[in-house]
Amino acid sequence: MSKTIFVSNRLPVTVSKSESGLDYKESIGGLATGLKNYHEQGDTIWAGWPGVAKDDLSEEEVASVASTLKNDYKCLSVPLTSEDIEMYYYGFCNETIWPLFHYFTSAVEYRRKTWEAYKRVNRTFFDAVDPLIEEGDTIWIHDYQLMLLPQMIREKHPDVKIGFFLHIPFPSFETYRLLIWRNELLEGLLGANLIGFHTYDYVRHFLSTVRRLLGHEHNLYKIQFETHLTQVDAFPMGIDYDYFSKSPTEENISQESLDFIESTKDLRNIISVDRLDYTKGIPDRIKAFKHFLAKYPEYHEKVRLNLIIAPSRVGIEKYDNLKREIEELVSEVNGEYGTFSWMPVWFFFRTVSQDELIAFYRNSDVLLVTPLRDGMNLVAKEYVAARTDNKGMLVMSETAGAASELGEAVIVNPNDHEAIANGIKMALEMPEDDKMDRNKNMHRRLSRYNVKFWAEEFLNTLWAAPEDRIATE
Ligand code: G6P
Repeated sequence: MSKTIFVSNRLPVTVSKSESGLDYKESIGGLATGLKNYHEQGDTIWAGWPGVAKDDLSEEEVASVASTLKNDYKCLSVPLTSEDIEMYYYGFCNETIWPLFHYFTSAVEYRRKTWEAYKRVNRTFFDAVDPLIEEGDTIWIHDYQLMLLPQMIREKHPDVKIGFFLHIPFPSFETYRLLIWRNELLEGLLGANLIGFHTYDYVRHFLSTVRRLLGHEHNLYKIQFETHLTQVDAFPMGIDYDYFSKSPTEENISQESLDFIESTKDLRNIISVDRLDYTKGIPDRIKAFKHFLAKYPEYHEKVRLNLIIAPSRVGIEKYDNLKREIEELVSEVNGEYGTFSWMPVWFFFRTVSQDELIAFYRNSDVLLVTPLRDGMNLVAKEYVAARTDNKGMLVMSETAGAASELGEAVIVNPNDHEAIANGIKMALEMPEDDKMDRNKNMHRRLSRYNVKFWAEEFLNTLWAAPEDRIATE
């Protein structure tokens, strides 16, 4: 019987080691949710890094992680050393590909050593999944950490179906061409039968990059590469709509969060929720809010910006500096505009549970999400889904993938503080019936194109992808 193998850098469960032993925590991200049904019910296995360095564990612990992940979670552990994590994950993935693909060209590091590590770790993933692969299997690889893997698998297993989905933007040719190893990454991807992106813009960028760098034209989104066809298409990722549109489970909400919600009752609340990342445009957002307070003093003592930022990629200098910059900006606004009874910005640096998030979303008049670049941005979709009363309003930047699906939101340029300030005002003052109409449209779309639909569409397209192979002998 044929099976499906999912491969991603992180598994849907993260292992950590503490004094009391090994801890297993299930992830709640979009990918884990989207593939949950397939993974739980079908003949599937999920391969990925368990989240802890191999050399931080004893031999027995490495074996125990592998067997617990296999038996309890249907996962294959791909152990990585601290050196791998340093050079591949922090290095090439997050200091080269991440900034380049998000158009932060001056932040990109071009280091041969991290590129070598990227190749080596993609090979480690290949070596881990290779023994599992049988004729007729399907392999679905995820994201920018594993762009060489499709071709590695294709070379040894030319007849299996290989899908690849990129969760971040694919930049325009002029940006992508800056990469030293640009052809190698493209050829790595083209090993797949199907490559998926969040938006048609990314599809277009990819196709024109392939044409200009490798000389391959596409024919109706299909590229003849070596002995097979690679199909390219857009699959905008959705959310678990049913989950976000139902009431949160009260027991899962801490007293501290309930107290926080209580404290917002007499205010108009603007919320923003992000991973700590320089691509998210957080400093500009705070500056824009400051401008809003300067321009519209009638909102003093009446509005609050609640910034919820989850720690991420701790240890990379650019991320650590960003946290300091945010702290300074928050205290600047609070120092300048705060009164004895009112603090305009509340900043929380922590991860909050899904149920708490839903409760916060429901309590917020506006979600302000202004990434400078974002592959999709699922937070925007979650907020709209959670406000089942249609009384919230989303203010979001045009440079997030989700903007192409949520045109009814107030759309702004994330660099334009004036536009963001006016967008906040417009969202806060939008007449109820206008808000209702806009939200209803967005709800319809989000409930139909949910994350289950996304996974089904991708897999069905992959299974139907043309088999054509040119005979090599
Ligand atoms: C983005 C990427 C994912 C990544 C996630 C969290 O959404 O597309 O591949 O897993 O960020 O980042 P981290 O570095 O913690 O895995």
